[in-house]
Amino acid sequence: MCGIIGMVGEGAPEFVVRGLRTLEYRGYDSSGIAVAKGGVVFVQKGVGTIDRIVSEPPEGVAAIGHTRWATHGGVTEFNAHPHLDCSGKYAVVHNGIIENHTALRQELVGRGHVFTSETDSEVIVHLFEEGVARFGDYEKALNYVLSKIRGQYAFVILTADGAILAARNGAPLLVGRSENATFVASDPVPLLGVASEIYRLRDGSYAVVTRAGAHISGEAQRVPEISARRVELGGYAHYMEKEIFEQPRALRDTLDYLRREEISLELDGRVHLLAAGTSYHASLYGEYLLRRRGIDARAFVASEYGSWKGREPDYIIAVSQSGETEDVLSVLRNQEGPEVVAITNTPGSTIEEYANTVIYTRAGPEVGVAATKTYTTQLLVFAHLFSGERPDKLPELAGQVIESAKPLAERLADELARKNNAYFLGRGLDVVTAREGALKLKEISYIHAEAYPAGESKHGPISLVENGFPVFFTASPDTFDETLPNVHEMRARGAEVVLASSEPSELAEYWFSVPHVSEVIFPMLSVIPWQLVAYYTAVRRGLNPDRPRNLAKSVTVR
Ligand code: G6P
Repeated sequence: MCGIIGMVGEGAPEFVVRGLRTLEYRGYDSSGIAVAKGGVVFVQKGVGTIDRIVSEPPEGVAAIGHTRWATHGGVTEFNAHPHLDCSGKYAVVHNGIIENHTALRQELVGRGHVFTSETDSEVIVHLFEEGVARFGDYEKALNYVLSKIRGQYAFVILTADGAILAARNGAPLLVGRSENATFVASDPVPLLGVASEIYRLRDGSYAVVTRAGAHISGEAQRVPEISARRVELGGYAHYMEKEIFEQPRALRDTLDYLRREEISLELDGRVHLLAAGTSYHASLYGEYLLRRRGIDARAFVASEYGSWKGREPDYIIAVSQSGETEDVLSVLRNQEGPEVVAITNTPGSTIEEYANTVIYTRAGPEVGVAATKTYTTQLLVFAHLFSGERPDKLPELAGQVIESAKPLAERLADELARKNNAYFLGRGLDVVTAREGALKLKEISYIHAEAYPAGESKHGPISLVENGFPVFFTASPDTFDETLPNVHEMRARGAEVVLASSEPSELAEYWFSVPHVSEVIFPMLSVIPWQLVAYYTAVRRGLNPDRPRNLAKSVTVR
């Protein structure tokens, strides 16, 4: 999604360009930068990658930059951020939505302002221009803007004399400090290793940054060290590859944290789990474990929660690796009754503001758009909380699965790269793994993949199966015997069967061996082959798995 970065200090334009590159993983269609120098604001912006648009920025004392993921207005150069006011002295970059932008635009046009884009964002900079003219003071002008706009936003204004004004309401924004410079960013990644202190602005607050330092209105929360670890690719070709291979470490750190901090949850009443994407699949796993304990639990895709007409829950468990997914946050914002437990990988993220209890996965920053290590660690949190099992060996077993699955996944990817469709099937908890496997494959390799309960596959999906159609089965020791007849059905129709199980089967052309473990532990291991297959298939297809088209790592709009 959209990314914001800014700096006041020596070398600001270069930092902003570097920062924009680190935000690329979030997904974007246009990019731009504004630089303040000698009382003038220079803007470079357009459709396409940062390297194409802003590789050589002008020098200057302060700069802001933006990666845009279009919502209001098409993907055009005019709609790319930053946007200038009429005088050309102020520029704005903005994430989120200004809900009353149409009315504001009409008023501003009526007062002689000329707009150059179709975006909702441009009203901010024209209002700021008015505010400065009226009050002769940047902070007052900013408050004037904030009194006029409604919506969820994070925005940053650059002035021609090198000041930055930043404000947030419902979208993340951070302020970082080092000895000689002050930074703003929508995401901690560009600030890691650069800023010695990072603060998260609270909703409704703002910062005024000049060469003399930063003044933050209200309370700001210091971002804990743990999330300030620098993100590096190491020797890996892509972040996704690195993150898959890091799972033994991520699982170990999460397990250590859960035990050290003696994390536990006593839930006495009805539980709703809310999440999106991969985190929703983790919630389905959580739902299963809770129900197994006799707790009335139900997992929801967060964006569909509004249509729930049943009784209010006593607890909400919100699962979001980023802690910034708007579909999840917008539900939490309007909840008063239930107690909220958040499970997140991002300390200091917005979800914490709405939670009574926060539980972390300790996967470390995840950069690849396709979630991998955050998924297995989310499952681990649920297993720790609700299964009563002690998965001491899990990290080591995950390492073994990675090692044995890698060469097979590479081989399979050569073949799969030429296919257009695939099914992922399983029973019981293995359906969750099937769903996650199908999601991984489709999101990064663009192969159409669907998941079904294996038994249901004969009620429709099987009609597509013909010679060479890939069907991926996940079968834990608990479901193996029951799943085998479905493997036969598929094989009989010419399907190419890929199996992840503890026991081999001569029906499978590719067999991924998964250690013989309980139904609770199995999903954390059996998903690994599917992550690897998706990764290598995307690479074989010449795609960048870290940046799939149209997708964003953290989706901050509804
Ligand atoms: C986006 C990402 C997915 C992710 C989902 C939920 O769609 O592309 O990989 O699973 O958001 O993200 P969250 O941060 O809330 O877990």
